[in-house]
Parts: sequence; structure tokens; C-alpha cells
Amino acid sequence: MNARPDPAAMRDLAVDLGIRAGRLIREGRTEGIRDVQTKTSDVDVVTAMDKACESFLIAELQAARPGDGVYGEEHEERSSETGVRWIVDPIDGTVNYLYGIPDYAVSIACEIDGVVVAGAVVRPESDEVYHAYVGGGAYRDDVALHGSTPQSVAVSLVATGFGYIATRRQQQGALLANVIGSVRDIRRIGSAALDICYAAEGRIDAYYEWGLHAWDFAAATLIAAEAGLTVRSPEHEDGLLVVGAPAVADDLAQLLHIHIDPAWGVPA
Ligand code: IPD
Ligand code: CA
Repeated sequence: MNARPDPAAMRDLAVDLGIRAGRLIREGRTEGIRDVQTKTSDVDVVTAMDKACESFLIAELQAARPGDGVYGEEHEERSSETGVRWIVDPIDGTVNYLYGIPDYAVSIACEIDGVVVAGAVVRPESDEVYHAYVGGGAYRDDVALHGSTPQSVAVSLVATGFGYIATRRQQQGALLANVIGSVRDIRRIGSAALDICYAAEGRIDAYYEWGLHAWDFAAATLIAAEAGLTVRSPEHEDGLLVVGAPAVADDLAQLLHIHIDPAWGVPA
């Protein structure tokens, strides 16, 4: 039986692969965006580079750790023979990537027996690397992260995001309409992984999204938790993810929760 992997070593592997994958997609962008296809709707895009980057990550992970599982945005899930599973988003913020907006990232999380223990989120356009392993604190490069200290939700800068299905987005818009008058302001940056890392860093005070996939948040929520933020998992029955400074996260979650109409169902 294999020894349980060291979370710090898994973090190091995620950082190394994230930096190399980030270089791949940034250089790919300068050569031009190719083969833009759509997925769940006409506005849900996937580029040739999303697929190439995820293939690169899968091949490198299999070479480094044969038998580990991989769960990525663009491919079928590969099951794990080791208890270790990697959750990867090759380009989070694909629409930003398409338009040349620099807020896109590679996200890599390592899960052992169903618990995320290490992760890296790399923003290639600025060479910023957010990373953490469980119990080890959170960092941007070598700077320790501790979030912000807002006094209340009313003076919090809150980021959010929207999915690609029109009806879902209308529901997300209705939810936003109910909170926008109760916060300092709203940001829609376009990459959930970076939104959450920015909250960990204190560039914003909180982030929420109703209806998000594990590859979008798995690495970043560990980074936020290790920075001392409160993370409300979307495994709650309303499917709402909230990440924020401890002083405001619960109040924000409550404010949002009462405005989620149960008739909307839990987002898939
Ligand atoms: C999307 C981004 C966006 C969030 C969406 C995600 P993608 O991921 O993270 O900020 O609001 O819900 O689907 O499509 O750019 O990988
Ligand atoms: Ca994503």
C-alpha cells in the first residue's frame, strides 16, 4: 500500500505544473486564439488551448504520479487507484482569455480521500502564484495572505460570477439585484479561481456564486481557508458558495440565502 502523500509535496507539484501550464497558455495567446467552440450554450466557449492545456496537465500528472485520478473541466474523469485525485481547470476565465483581459488562471487542486489538501492558482499575465497546503498557510508567491478586515457587509467589496445558461443567469441576476444595494460595490472579474484568491489576499472582501463547479473553486477555496477566511461550501442544500472575511461571510451568506428561490432548484 502506498504511503499517504505529503500535502506540501503535492502543493509543490501543483505550483510547478501551474507555472508551466500558465506559460503554455500565455504563449499560446500571443500566437492567436484557435478553434473556438461552444459547450453548454452559445456563450460558453472552449478554445483549442483549454484542451491542449488540460491534456498537458493530465500527461504530466500521470508521468509524475501514475494511478492518481484527474477531474478536469474539458475531459472525462479519470478514476483514482491511489486515493489521490487532481481537480484541474486549464483556463479559468476562458472568456477573458478570448478577449485579452488578463484575469485568467490555471487552477490545480490535490484531493486525498475526498479532501482537498493542496492547491495552486497561477495568473500567467502577472506571474502571480497563489498556493497553499492544508495547515501550511496561504501565499501569493512568498507573501503570506490574511484577507481583509471589513467592518460589515454594507462596506464590503463583493465579487460574484454568472454561468452560461440564460435561465440560470437570470436567476443569478435576480439574486444579485437583492444584494447590490446592501454592499459597498460588486465586481465581476470573470475568473472564480482568481476572485477567491483575491479575497484571500484582501483585494476584495468577499465572493459568492450560486452554481459553480469543483474545478473552479477547489484550489482557491483551500487557499482562502488557509488565509483565515470563512468558506461556505456549495454542498449546502441551496448550492451557494460564499468566501469572505470572517466578520462578514456569515451575514453575506444569510442575506443571499433568503433570496434564493427554492423553485430554482440546486444548480447542476
Ligand atoms: C467560469 C469563470 C466565471 C464564473 C463561471 C465559471 P470558465 O469558468 O470562473 O468567473 O462566474 O461560473 O464557469 O468557463 O472561465 O472556466
Ligand atoms: Ca472555470
